[in-house]
Amino acid sequence: MKDLIIVIFGSTGDLTFRKLLPAIARLFKKNQLPVETQVIALGRKIYSTEQYLESMNNLASMKLDIKTLAKIVTYHQMEITDINQYRKLLDLVNSEKNDQTRELYYLAIGPELFPDVSNHINVSGLVTIGNLNQSIIFEKPFGHDLFSAKAINEMLWNYFDEKQIYRIDHYLGKEMIQNIMMVRFANRIFEEIWHNRTIKSVKIISKETEGILGRAGYYDQSGALRDMIQSHLLQILSLIAMEVPLTYFSDDVKDEKVKVMSHLHFDHDSLILGQYDGYLNEKNIPNDSTTETFVFFKAYVNTPRFKGVPFYLMSGKKLDIKESLIIIEFEETSEQRKWELPLSTNKLYIKIDPKDGVGLVLNSKVPGLTDNVEQVELEYCIACNAVGNKTEAYEKLIIDMIGQHRTLFTRWDEIELSWHFIDHIKKYQKPPIIYKDYAELKSMIKELTNEEMK
Ligand code: BG6
Repeated sequence: MKDLIIVIFGSTGDLTFRKLLPAIARLFKKNQLPVETQVIALGRKIYSTEQYLESMNNLASMKLDIKTLAKIVTYHQMEITDINQYRKLLDLVNSEKNDQTRELYYLAIGPELFPDVSNHINVSGLVTIGNLNQSIIFEKPFGHDLFSAKAINEMLWNYFDEKQIYRIDHYLGKEMIQNIMMVRFANRIFEEIWHNRTIKSVKIISKETEGILGRAGYYDQSGALRDMIQSHLLQILSLIAMEVPLTYFSDDVKDEKVKVMSHLHFDHDSLILGQYDGYLNEKNIPNDSTTETFVFFKAYVNTPRFKGVPFYLMSGKKLDIKESLIIIEFEETSEQRKWELPLSTNKLYIKIDPKDGVGLVLNSKVPGLTDNVEQVELEYCIACNAVGNKTEAYEKLIIDMIGQHRTLFTRWDEIELSWHFIDHIKKYQKPPIIYKDYAELKSMIKELTNEEMK
């Protein structure tokens, strides 16, 4: 009998070989999963388990740990849209489990398959509504606007209890995003100054160098606003702007995040949409597509704590470097204007990827005989201390799902409000500017807002 069964729907897709299988292998190797773990990979193709793993290994850019995976993975061939084929799967799962077995049903599939697969999982008896040992996991996109997101959600609630549903936003599993609350609330120096009297601006940035990597079908319908802002960047914003939660239990934290989202205002004059030069030549992209691959705008959180502080959100593909970070800029000190020196404002960097850590920029005297000033950065680099052994977001998310810790998963009302916000921005959609490099966009932002983006 198994203590943990993970059933992956869509086991030949890129999420499975890029993220899930590596995370599962690493966790198993580190003894973070029960010895009695079974992963059932479902797919249409006819493979033996050995052939399946080999074929995933060929697709993965980083080699998979086949030796470890072979101990726990079983490939099971089936058509997941055909309800008649669930009987065999049910028999397989039933033959491996007892009353205590933790079961995760991971839907690594496109949203168009959600309704059928959810129905079949429920009707076949694989998952019983309300059985909290059985969880069902979804990846974004949860719809493409508020209306479609509501429809997906209502469909889910027909088949599962909210407590069985885990909606993944993989940014929440990233080390430094988990660390935001700790930095804010466990350090007196930040707790005291986290408001509009000392914070001048907040920048939330996610830059990528890659293009759409063959995901035309999904990306062209989505664009940067729906792909990155609706999920990852708004989640970050709400963690930065939230009030102190009653407790650090999942629902109390989410209650505060939701309040931020409901006080969010968008400055439509600041909106810049861009499309990288060459996007229209990507395979399967219509040659008149106006989908944005870059977005920048200013928003305000109209709570007493943050009223008046601009939040600059920016995300794009084919930019200068791969980097996700938050920059909190503080006001000048009252003394600064007495010095006729090029002083800078203090900045707190929360670096998310690829070099996660925290940095604090200070003004300091240049050592030596002159009185010159320099900007120095105190830096804590997590990635540097964990060489080759960094925990990946999906490892943390899988462990939390097994343990039924829900803080790092999104609740429906968070998603609802984020779509409401994105739908509003969409009303100001305009044809994107075609950009060749980030420098063009950066100077455009400077011209429009007087802000220097990184
Ligand atoms: C995904 C988006 O959610 O996040 C992708 O769909 C994007 O378009 C990716 O590339 C970025 O994630 P990360 O972890 O590489 O910053």
